[in-house]
Amino acid sequence: MTGRLTTMRTTTLGTHGPQVGVIGLGCMGMTFSYDMATPRDDNTSIAVIRQALDLGVTLIDTADVYGPHTNEALVGRALAGGHRGRAVLATKVGLVVSDPTGGPEGSPLIVNNGRPEHVRTAIDDSLRRLGTDHVDLYQLHRVDPKVPVEETWGAMAEAVAAGKAGHLGLSEATVEDIKAAQAVHPVTSVQSELSLWTRDRLTDVLPYCQEHAIAFLAYAPLGRGFLAGRFTSFDDLPDDDFRRRLPRFQRDALRTNLTIAARVREIAERAAVTPAQVALAWVVAQGEHVVPIPGTKTPKYLVDNAGAADTTLTPADLAALDALPAPQGSRY
Ligand SMILES: NC(=O)c1ccc[n+]([C@@H]2O[C@H](COP(=O)([O-])OP(=O)(O)OC[C@H]3O[C@@H](n4cnc5c(N)ncnc54)[C@H](OP(=O)(O)O)[C@@H]3O)[C@@H](O)[C@H]2O)c1
Repeated sequence: MTGRLTTMRTTTLGTHGPQVGVIGLGCMGMTFSYDMATPRDDNTSIAVIRQALDLGVTLIDTADVYGPHTNEALVGRALAGGHRGRAVLATKVGLVVSDPTGGPEGSPLIVNNGRPEHVRTAIDDSLRRLGTDHVDLYQLHRVDPKVPVEETWGAMAEAVAAGKAGHLGLSEATVEDIKAAQAVHPVTSVQSELSLWTRDRLTDVLPYCQEHAIAFLAYAPLGRGFLAGRFTSFDDLPDDDFRRRLPRFQRDALRTNLTIAARVREIAERAAVTPAQVALAWVVAQGEHVVPIPGTKTPKYLVDNAGAADTTLTPADLAALDALPAPQGSRY
């Protein structure tokens, strides 16, 4: 795989954050959640991360709980050898695996841990795995209902003061959470699910972020692959794949939701782009501070997704996408 050095359109994270390409890269699926039964190729994933940087896809998103820990270690290997400086590296804290097989159908049981003492050790563990002395963005994966967000955020702000983190972000936070955190230390970004079939945050968190110049990092912008046309039946999902437990991927719901994927494909064909590019361009069009972080471990999908930075949808296409039916099934 050869890297092509390009200048992707960039945007600033928050008011004082780093510049990032308008399309980022989510690394979760490289070691976690998806394709569990499929042998993964770490070398290909590493090449994908490095080619992302060549393409201007500079925001690289991981989390300590992905794996757990294996995802940060893989990202660390990808950024070794002089690539770290080209990336805007984002990781997360606040979720931990409490039992490797104690979750639904033998999956890992994941619980909150937003205690300040956990944050203080977790940042050092993340840095060691990532092979770096600082992350550019340190995100609270979920606000712990048992710990006031100000306390968790205060410990994260200590990491900034110590030079271990450049900026702080929240994930799946409410406007109230954002306000409470802002009172302690600036919120540079909020990461939440946003895609053609998940629009919940368009009416609360996203407008607040727009108003306060907080970056909105749109996760699962491809509907976990569905909007890109990857799956046409439940049986397409690999064994042990996390999506087998998600309501929208259950047999009847998935069959109904194929209408949405078909409309995306129609618009893509008319615009001579791919369905993934349509799905990502719609997300980018939701606001100047919105940065989608599609996940992929596949070289050709990475190139496809990077191309969404140059995909402009007509007002008629955007209106048609806005009018898509709501999906059947909740997102989790
Ligand atoms: N904050 C949170 O709570 C949270 C939750 C979930 C995810 N995230 C972050 O968001 C990132 C993205 O979300 P996600 O990975 O769950 O969902 P996603 O980006 O909507 O979809 C990923 C899936 O789409 C496939 N795909 C990617 N590009 C494609 C293309 N151009 N054409 C066809 N298929 C394509 C991938 O395949 P391959 O993998 O086989 O290449 C993968 O199966 C994650 O990696 C993670 O960093 C955050």
